[in-house]
Amino acid sequence: MRAGSGKIRGPVTNDRPFPGSGSSAFRLRDGELWCEGIPVRELAARHGTPLHVYSATEILTRVRELRAAFGEAARICYAVKANPNLAILRLLAAEGVGFDVVSGGELARDAAAGVATSGVVFAGVAKSAAEIGAALDAGILAFNVESEHELPLLAAAARARGVVARLAVRVNPDLPVDTHRHTRTGGKDDKFGLDFGAAARVVAAVAREAALELVGFHVHLGSQVREPEPYLRAFTAVMAFFDALEPRPALRYYDLGGGFGIDYGDGRGRLDVARLAAALVPAITARGLVPILEPGRYLVADAGLLLTRVLGTKERPSHAFVLVDAAMTELIRPALYQASHGIVPVQDPERRPEGVWDVVGPVCESGDFLGKARALPRLAQGELLAVLATGAYGAAMASSYNSRPRAAEILVSGTTAQLVRRRERVEDLWAEELNP
Ligand SMILES: Cc1ncc(COP(=O)(O)O)c(C=O)c1O
Repeated sequence: MRAGSGKIRGPVTNDRPFPGSGSSAFRLRDGELWCEGIPVRELAARHGTPLHVYSATEILTRVRELRAAFGEAARICYAVKANPNLAILRLLAAEGVGFDVVSGGELARDAAAGVATSGVVFAGVAKSAAEIGAALDAGILAFNVESEHELPLLAAAARARGVVARLAVRVNPDLPVDTHRHTRTGGKDDKFGLDFGAAARVVAAVAREAALELVGFHVHLGSQVREPEPYLRAFTAVMAFFDALEPRPALRYYDLGGGFGIDYGDGRGRLDVARLAAALVPAITARGLVPILEPGRYLVADAGLLLTRVLGTKERPSHAFVLVDAAMTELIRPALYQASHGIVPVQDPERRPEGVWDVVGPVCESGDFLGKARALPRLAQGELLAVLATGAYGAAMASSYNSRPRAAEILVSGTTAQLVRRRERVEDLWAEELNP
């Protein structure tokens, strides 16, 4: 579908990056927000709101940026959990990207998207026997083993199929990083990975089992990491552990995980991936290893926004609310992680603010908000707002709580807008419910 087909738009007289967006694919043109070559107002008019809009160009730009930093030899395995839409998986696969999955469902998505599963790494703190079997059948690149009980399951499944299962040991190096408690995964209190003692036991057990092959180590410290240092400290710690192993196994990969931080507008900036790669890649390759990276948010967050319409406003002596048609059901990050996303009017966004507003959705929870204490102009009923940087962990974490059908999703490339997920119909919500 070409948005706005049949309509001739006049020449754009004023065009600059949209203020507050981390992507130059979002433009302020003639006083309104565009995604690439399409005014987002047209997308909302055609597809309704709430609506997730993604820029294909921004996603591809990020892949190329990581390639330029980490080199062609590095394997980029996109963390499917960030945004599992099949169209995004296909877009990335066409760019040579592999995938990091954490469930049988995500692996099945890869297969449904028709992308190669030979470039998949499979993490997850508690994989079931069925998931392990499906991944072996799909011929994935490697399992990231992070619980000791997985090993006999993996060995049995590999033996039963007459294959050798490749695995990396996910180490938990006890390196807490500066991020939200719920997005930290590399501290000793976190459920993820194996401490060095358990990792040593797994390495020894793999050496005794012909159906298993150790191909590397994996560390994922958490999300929204903005400095290279934790990645370097993790690599140094894992290599010190490796050097002390007797005998030392032959390795092929070092998987440094994902978690590359972006700038959500809090002024803390994003991770400098070129600086990270410059420090880490030479150290990894000096060991004869190939780096694997698992970016999720970094590839897709800034490429997305959530369009929502103002339903009304409510003013109290202490508080003023903008009531909108998107909610925690479309974007749970503010409620779950106290995350802050830019919220801007689509039309004339640089109008003078008039007051401080909480932007809240219709869901019956006081925790249902998209933004608190935002300086915004007085907004009219029906006016469009854009919530920025919602391409990661937005639609992916959607729910139908309060019996709200899930939002549609649009992928824009130039002047082409494709509907990549239909808006759920209300009757879909009870389609699996039975009346015995
Ligand atoms: C094992 C693993 N790799 C990669 C990621 C991606 O993280 P991010 O989206 O912050 O890059 C996650 C996120 O939870 C993860 O658990």
